[in-house]
Amino acid sequence: MANTILVGAQWGDEGKGKIIDVLTEQADVVVRTQGGNNAGHTVFVGPQKYVLHLIPSGILRRGKKNVIANGVVVDPIGLVNEINGLHKLNVKTEGRLFVSETAHVVLPYHRELDAQREVLKGRHKIGTTKRGIGPCYGDKAARVGLRMVDLVNPERFEEKLRLRIKENNEVLRALGAKPLSFKTVHHTYAAAARVLKPYVTNTVVLLHACLRRGESLLFEGAQGTFLDIDHGTYPFVTSSNTSAGGACTGSGVPPHRMDRVVGVMKAYTTRVGEGPLPSEADEISDLLHGMGREFGATTGRPRRCGWFDAVATRHATMVNGIDELAITNIDGLDTVETIKVCIGYRDGKARYDHVPADDQVLARVEPVYAEFEGWRTPLDKVRRWKDLPVKTRTYLRAISELTGARLGIASVGPARAQTIFV
Ligand code: GDP
Ligand code: IMO
Ligand code: MG
Repeated sequence: MANTILVGAQWGDEGKGKIIDVLTEQADVVVRTQGGNNAGHTVFVGPQKYVLHLIPSGILRRGKKNVIANGVVVDPIGLVNEINGLHKLNVKTEGRLFVSETAHVVLPYHRELDAQREVLKGRHKIGTTKRGIGPCYGDKAARVGLRMVDLVNPERFEEKLRLRIKENNEVLRALGAKPLSFKTVHHTYAAAARVLKPYVTNTVVLLHACLRRGESLLFEGAQGTFLDIDHGTYPFVTSSNTSAGGACTGSGVPPHRMDRVVGVMKAYTTRVGEGPLPSEADEISDLLHGMGREFGATTGRPRRCGWFDAVATRHATMVNGIDELAITNIDGLDTVETIKVCIGYRDGKARYDHVPADDQVLARVEPVYAEFEGWRTPLDKVRRWKDLPVKTRTYLRAISELTGARLGIASVGPARAQTIFV
């Protein structure tokens, strides 16, 4: 398989974990390049459900290498818990999981600051996952972060941590929050460092060695295009580049080695957290929540739901250079009589066929809808394109045309087998 970047083309939770798992069969290495344990990627292997936060979803397939590359922010406690959780389920990580020396480390003050800043923002809060992602990337940009190479060097870790806790405690006190105890944090994180040390390596050298051997790489995007710090609905975004470019900077694999970009999108739209969502609609939200669907894999929060937004996904195709679409959760629309697709935005007399950059405009635009007849039959057992109802194929072809990329995969259920190659 060609070196493939897989990105979320909406607001996250598009079903990337499931599609990565399917594509991993033909890949040698799966690489996470941005985000942290704010991600929650669900994969079913038979009846067993796995939710991966930091570890690439390729860990569930035997013989595949898995890399947490330099662009990821690593919560050591979260990572140790995830490793232990996999061991309990008889999934091996030793010799198959590699963590970049230069990945930044999420520390307790990042999580505490994340939470405190949300409280301070009041009704303007972002609705973060409170995993410390924003403050950790903030420290990286401010050049005061600790990296994995620091964490696994006991003397250096102690020295740097002491300084960082001192400074951050000043900030926490000023915010009225409890300061952290250096001793407690050091004890806990030094223990995690001992567990993680064997996994920490130079992943740039490792990935280039894989490339020289002709192995194929699959880049597992986290979050989605509209949560990208540059291209998303700022400030209601995460703090990394979730779009295709992030795979290069986040791994040290150069752009000319990337062969294709797969954009994952749901057959409708969801978002968790605050911020504009032009095609949000109670009718689809009530339907999906009533079916027990669309609750967050990381925080358990109910996701906001809306109709498929072709304006947004067209923008995502442009920004990521999406060659191929993987459309998931098509079965979520099985019972809908009339399916709507947002084909434009209206703001008074102004009409937009692209996503306006001004977040205040985006927050007030009204969707312009096209309507499609629903197929009103269960799709979960369909395995071939030609066995899909004509109305389903019409709907999928329309969203592919409106989005501007070829349809490659249609997913009709969470399991591996519920995948149709088009
Ligand atoms: P990710 O963050 O993009 O990996 O997506 P999540 O795992 O957070 O959320 C996607 C949810 O949809 C998970 O519960 C998946 O098991 C589920 N899922 C993925 N594809 C399909 C599909 O085609 N049909 C159904 N019913 N569920 C799906
Ligand atoms: P996966 O990889 C959906 C959202 C949060 C919040 C915003 C900022 O599973 O698709 P952060 O904690 O990153 O500072 O939160 O981004 N968010 C996600 N939403 N899926 C995700 O990951 C997300 N990761 C962050 O809800 O709105
Ligand atoms: Mg998710």
